[in-house]
Amino acid sequence: MATPNSSLQSHDKQETVDESYQKTYKKFDEILPTLPKDKGWFSEHLVQYQGFWLKPRALLGALLINDHFTNPQPSDIILSTSPKCGSTWLRALMFAIINRNTYDFETHPLLTTNPHDLVPFFEGYMRRDGSYSGRVDSLPSPWFLSSHLPHSLLPKSLTSTCRFVYICRDPKDVFVSKWHFMNNVRPKELPPISFEEAFDLFSRGVSHYGPIWDHALGYWKASRESPETVMFVKYEDVKKETSVYVRKLADFLGVPFSANEEEEGIVEKIVRLCSFENLSNLEVNKTVKTTKVRPSVSNSDFFRKGQVGDWVNHLTPEMAQRLDQITKDKFQGSGLSFDLQET
Ligand code: A3P
Repeated sequence: MATPNSSLQSHDKQETVDESYQKTYKKFDEILPTLPKDKGWFSEHLVQYQGFWLKPRALLGALLINDHFTNPQPSDIILSTSPKCGSTWLRALMFAIINRNTYDFETHPLLTTNPHDLVPFFEGYMRRDGSYSGRVDSLPSPWFLSSHLPHSLLPKSLTSTCRFVYICRDPKDVFVSKWHFMNNVRPKELPPISFEEAFDLFSRGVSHYGPIWDHALGYWKASRESPETVMFVKYEDVKKETSVYVRKLADFLGVPFSANEEEEGIVEKIVRLCSFENLSNLEVNKTVKTTKVRPSVSNSDFFRKGQVGDWVNHLTPEMAQRLDQITKDKFQGSGLSFDLQET
């Protein structure tokens, strides 16, 4: 039986854009000029759509998914995150868990392929001209996709059928991670953004797929309503007890580790394979390799420090307090919290 994404490349084809897709593009062209705009960090601008700040291309992706991604199956899996919360790591862990009977650890695809090239980016799958990897509805099932789209922007057919894993992270570390990422990938022709200005944008929620707090709350609520279809984890917890979470992920994904696998140490092998130390030192992830899907982002841009609490080296105490206060205010009464160090 096919496992998710084990045969991805053979389906990576171009297709023409038919009339129903043209209707979605037309809708996008009509909506776009009506939306509030703000600064785009590393793109020209972001637009605010149904409460979230998106790159125009992400909005198009969301509309295409809503119009054309039909017939999802319970075996389909979506990894959801706000940017810089650990999607690269979870992509690797989940890919390794799901496909553990397809590949051995000595010749594993993760040793030679960046995790972003093994798990397609859902809303980036379709380009307007129909180029790159084909139509959003032509993906092979079962799917294992990664997305930054907020829960509320995904179609009900999907949220009520597929399995979601959501990873969030202390917004202070997310901001610092995003700041460094932006400086690596930002096109030279855009006017620079200072650390203070970026901080102000982030705090106001003007950040790709932001506000990060509303993004997390959407998936948090969904996970409480339907824990069997939405698994909600925190970067900090996975970092602290990676093997515990590898087992939890496998259980959630319906592929628990057998007693034999436990004896063979498969969990630990997956943890080691996907560790920051291992992945970031692989030749494929050290090189400046971009792809058609992410022309300005190289493989190495997805790996920086991989630590909890690096914000302390970058934020003033006032900045840290401001983000912590927003986090407390936004999450109040939701049952969601971060183990915030006193600032
Ligand atoms: P830092 O910038 O704090 O180092 P995303 O993958 O969602 O874009 O998030 C990127 C963040 O995850 C970066 O954080 C990156 O270093 C970290 N990261 C990447 N791979 C990791 C891994 N295998 N383990 C832990 N963290 C990882």
